Amino acid sequence: MAAEQISHGVPPSLSAKVVGSFAYLTVRDRLPTILTRVIDTIHRNKNKFFEQFGESGIQAEKQAISLLSKLRNELQTDKPVLALTDGLQDTESWNQYLQRHQNMQGDQEAVSWFKSPWLYVECYMYRRIQEAIWLNPPICDYDVFNEGKAQSYFESQQAVMALCTYLEEVNKNMEETSKNQLSEHFNKLLKVSLWGNKCDLSISAGQENSQKTSPIDSLNSLQTFILVDDSNVVWSTLNSIEEPGQQEKSTSGRVDFVLDNAGFELVTDLIFADFLVSSGLACEVRFHGKCFPWFVSDVTAQDFQWTIRQTMTANHKWMSKSGVQWQKYMKEGVWSYHDHPFWTLPHEFCDMSTDAPDLYATLMEANLLLFKGDLNYRKLTGDRHWDHTVGFDTSLRGFGPAPLCSLRTLKANVQVGLQPGQGEKLTSQDPDWMTSGKYAVIQFYSPKSVQT
Ligand code: F6P
Ligand code: MG
Repeated sequence: MAAEQISHGVPPSLSAKVVGSFAYLTVRDRLPTILTRVIDTIHRNKNKFFEQFGESGIQAEKQAISLLSKLRNELQTDKPVLALTDGLQDTESWNQYLQRHQNMQGDQEAVSWFKSPWLYVECYMYRRIQEAIWLNPPICDYDVFNEGKAQSYFESQQAVMALCTYLEEVNKNMEETSKNQLSEHFNKLLKVSLWGNKCDLSISAGQENSQKTSPIDSLNSLQTFILVDDSNVVWSTLNSIEEPGQQEKSTSGRVDFVLDNAGFELVTDLIFADFLVSSGLACEVRFHGKCFPWFVSDVTAQDFQWTIRQTMTANHKWMSKSGVQWQKYMKEGVWSYHDHPFWTLPHEFCDMSTDAPDLYATLMEANLLLFKGDLNYRKLTGDRHWDHTVGFDTSLRGFGPAPLCSLRTLKANVQVGLQPGQGEKLTSQDPDWMTSGKYAVIQFYSPKSVQT
């Protein structure tokens, strides 16, 4: 039996070795499709590379495609996972992680696409895509997912306009807003940011998946699809921040967004962050994104800046006003963007305190951490076969640098913290409830509540 299966009550990882499971179907069908799209994108941009870099651009394009085709073949034929060779900042961590898994699996079986943890091999694929790009210097800054992310932003313009108009109304009347009204706005914008997570591109293998209607109008009808709703606790956490040494005084603190997708979802996060600052619920917001293109639609520094610039220059009064405000927050340091390499490693978050202690220490300084999206949920819970009634706190396995909340639409079959019978009922009514993106959770945990 694999070592991880016997480790003290911790269930095994989801894996493509369970034939027919969502993990299996993803590795068999969705990942090769994503690789094929990446290859097509690079090929389509051949002329652009030639214009930019001449003949060496063409050579790089060919070489990258050949590495990616080899990768697709390794995946489809369940070849062993290979060590990385690009000698970058995180290469050693990846290779050590491979060794760790090899030791756990034992000598008889190689770490491979269909036999090893799904979370690991899926992350590894995105790192190998990046290796193919980085090994070809003239095109090493090329983002193979850029076109889809930009398209998702442009296709959701109507929804973005509606949200910026709503934000303008809220901000304009902030002085006269009662606590009750503030809590209502908070609830709405938190949920808009939650449902923004429906719009990721990796679940649709890169196909268009944008928001076209006003998200505020849909919130009531979506409420029944929120399986766990801890939004009240999030609200009270933000309202009970104490200044060190001044027990009773309520003040605003730092909120960190661990971002997920660019395009529409990022705009919903920026709108929510804007509200947190303008309402005084937070005085500082830190955004954590990815160091390189990841899971098709995840936010990189370039996407982050691009989105603010696009919003600033939009031909819509309240959109451009919002964008200008966001740029101002960035300049003043009220907002900041960070991209620690740990976010693009395959580790479960319970490993963070050991494997990225600097990041863990930074997160400890936040008053609230908002983890966006499905992949972050998988990493929070370790992407394991947990019983649905197991507590969210248990599944975190000691991870808890600060009070935290997961805002996630369900796109992978791991779900904890449900009521007895809730999971079974959902399975009988809607067999795909864990993977369709139709359901969501707002799940909160505070290390403070377990300290006494
Ligand atoms: O396979 C679908 C999938 O790629 C999951 O692996 C992953 O958890 C999810 O889509 C990405 O979703 P999100 O962008 O919400 O993290
Ligand atoms: Mg994503």
